[in-house]
Amino acid sequence: MRIVTSIATMQQLAKKWQRTGKRTGFVPTMGYLHAGHMSLVKRARQAAGKSGVVVVSIYVNPTQFGPQEDFSKYPRDLRRDFKLCREAGVDVVFTPADKEMYPGETRSRRCESADEPRFDKRGYSTYVVEEKLSQSMEGASRPTHFRGVTTVVAKLFNIVLPDVAVFGAKDWQQATIIKRMVADLNFPVKIIVAPTLRERDGLAMSSRNKYLVGDLRRQALVLWRAIQTAQAAVKRLKAVPAEKLKSDLKKLIKTEPDARLDYVEFFEPDTLAPVAKVMRGTHMALAVFIGNTRLIDNAKL
Ligand code: PAF
Repeated sequence: MRIVTSIATMQQLAKKWQRTGKRTGFVPTMGYLHAGHMSLVKRARQAAGKSGVVVVSIYVNPTQFGPQEDFSKYPRDLRRDFKLCREAGVDVVFTPADKEMYPGETRSRRCESADEPRFDKRGYSTYVVEEKLSQSMEGASRPTHFRGVTTVVAKLFNIVLPDVAVFGAKDWQQATIIKRMVADLNFPVKIIVAPTLRERDGLAMSSRNKYLVGDLRRQALVLWRAIQTAQAAVKRLKAVPAEKLKSDLKKLIKTEPDARLDYVEFFEPDTLAPVAKVMRGTHMALAVFIGNTRLIDNAKL
């Protein structure tokens, strides 16, 4: 397995693979890998084929974190990540430094408002913005988040030149926005959305689960309980008014002492358009703070 930190080297490799007809499967991550990520790697390997290559990027992207969010304490363990990638048969891990990805980055990570640039505009001033699907849910709660995601993913696509890229369904809105960006900007890459992996008790796998110490780990199961409650309601009643279900789920979340609902939404899976009546096939997503940790989950009902 090769570890690449330079954009120029990664692009040269990618161009060589293109010239020699090797398919490239790509899994972009922020590291602190878990079984959920490794299932995406497996999917990328399948898609790239035996003679293809698999690239995993590990980069905690500063532009997708708001000023009050957990960028500096986001969990990192590169040695462990490399070991997992090696064992999974990854060909290249691309792990660039901030100064490589965003030249001119200000050294101080502090900025006072969401609008204040994290970067010195002399060094970096181009962003990719999706204007419709990114307005609701995560986009409403984290105003600059998707701009950071689409920008870094576009950059990574231009660096890794993948034929196929695999994203997790756990970030449903993100995957939907990436598909839209790829279609709108004509990136020659196929997007695969792979299923969410859950712990045995239902908690969706996430690098942020590391923050769930003591009783918070138990309380975090309320997200899965909320999904199961909605699933049961749809099965029982066929069509449930979205507002009624939201209010029931708000009450359910409140039963855990350290849980605070950020949002719960019911929507069409492809367009993210909200629905008034929740039915079989409607998609549900929610974000809940468990203590200081913000968790997200979603499912088709
Ligand atoms: O889902 C993630 O881990 C990140 O948002 C991504 C796609 C790697 C971009 O930084």
